[in-house]
Amino acid sequence: MKILIIGSGGREHALAWKIKQSPKVETVYLAPGNAGTGNVGINLPIGVSDFDGIKKAVMEKGIDMVVVGPEVPLVEGIVNFFNADNELKNIPVIGPDKIGAQLEGSKDFAKAFMQKYNIPTARYKTITTENLEEGLAFLQELTPPFVLKADGLAAGKGVLIIPSLEEAQSSLKEMLGGMFGQASAKVVIEEFLSGIECSVFVLSDGKNYKILPEAKDYKRIGEGDTGPNTGGMGAVSPVPFVDEQFMEKIKLQIVEPTVQGLQKEGIVYKGFIFLGLINVEGNPFVIEYNVRMGDPETEAVMLRIESDFVDLLEGVAQGNLDKRNMTIDPRCACTVMLVSEGYPGNYPKGRVITNLEQIKDSILFHAGTSIKEGEVVTSGGRVIAVSSYGATREEALKNSFCNASKVSYEGKYFRSDIGFDLK
Ligand code: AMP
Ligand code: GLY
Repeated sequence: MKILIIGSGGREHALAWKIKQSPKVETVYLAPGNAGTGNVGINLPIGVSDFDGIKKAVMEKGIDMVVVGPEVPLVEGIVNFFNADNELKNIPVIGPDKIGAQLEGSKDFAKAFMQKYNIPTARYKTITTENLEEGLAFLQELTPPFVLKADGLAAGKGVLIIPSLEEAQSSLKEMLGGMFGQASAKVVIEEFLSGIECSVFVLSDGKNYKILPEAKDYKRIGEGDTGPNTGGMGAVSPVPFVDEQFMEKIKLQIVEPTVQGLQKEGIVYKGFIFLGLINVEGNPFVIEYNVRMGDPETEAVMLRIESDFVDLLEGVAQGNLDKRNMTIDPRCACTVMLVSEGYPGNYPKGRVITNLEQIKDSILFHAGTSIKEGEVVTSGGRVIAVSSYGATREEALKNSFCNASKVSYEGKYFRSDIGFDLK
């Protein structure tokens, strides 16, 4: 098979690494990929939203399956584009169509869906300029801190958590006034939930599902979970508090009603469902849905899938995921993200990266790298994910921290406390 992966980050490199291991796979292509993915597959200089460019590549290369990494092309309707095209409609795309992608593309859609199917989530109200007064009054009913979410995609920045009522009320007005452009023309106000978060990944063929290994990511830039949010500074899998009993609750209260609810809505969902969960006194609540894998969670989760991942993806495409077998590696996996100084604010690009060939007992997934004059250079805020196995989480982390220290470029930073909060 020839498989095309859409995207250019560490998540896509990890997907390519795992997919390439399948005996069913002849070539992996990436659009557009990065310096690291060029070692596993063939990079094609095509943007993730360039559907015509993607079509041309699919036809020219004889692609048998497309796996979509990021949410943007899904929300923009890449699946609908394939389905509506006579030459493309028989080529499976792993990812939901435009309506299914609303689970991530619209917080209001996701909340209404959860409410309808009794899926545990925070109490909420959706506000526009039309019912602003209702929003201001709802904030008064809640106890601080206050959670305000832009309805639409805002590059991971659309959630504000605000300590005081006055500030929350004025932020609500600012959001509706265009703080996040069109994305915050609607705002979801939510009750604040207190607990520890984790990420659970579901692969669905529209009817059947498999729960992939769970993970916990670390979003803040600073040690001890301080400072601004990033795309993710590291991840670990498994997550100790996600024991059998907690997973059973996730399955019965969240995964099954989600997959069945999508079916009842007439949404043929063939792809990943990423549940952003919070553990509130032993009970799972959905903080958010995403319609893709997490980054950097994928860079840990892919290490733990022992069986042929492409076999599972074929099960998704053919609607017989229940006939496919998934085995999980009992070892722990972790990921430590190397970033550029200044990230998540402004950061330099083009710094030469060295010592990559010295890394032996970790796997390097490139995130923001490119090739310049024959050298690997930084080209993003998140640069390289250092992923490792270990018999224990401590051992896996030790490997990653050790190798994170070895990779070298000017202005390198990583958190040396990934996993600090887990017992
Ligand atoms: P989201 O983009 O919806 O995942 O929100 C970003 C982050 O905000 C989450 O990872 C949580 O840490 C936090 N958050 C979102 N909603 C809530 C909530 N209702 N209660 C507490 N924290 C929240
Ligand atoms: N790591 C969180 C995300 O991918 O959204």
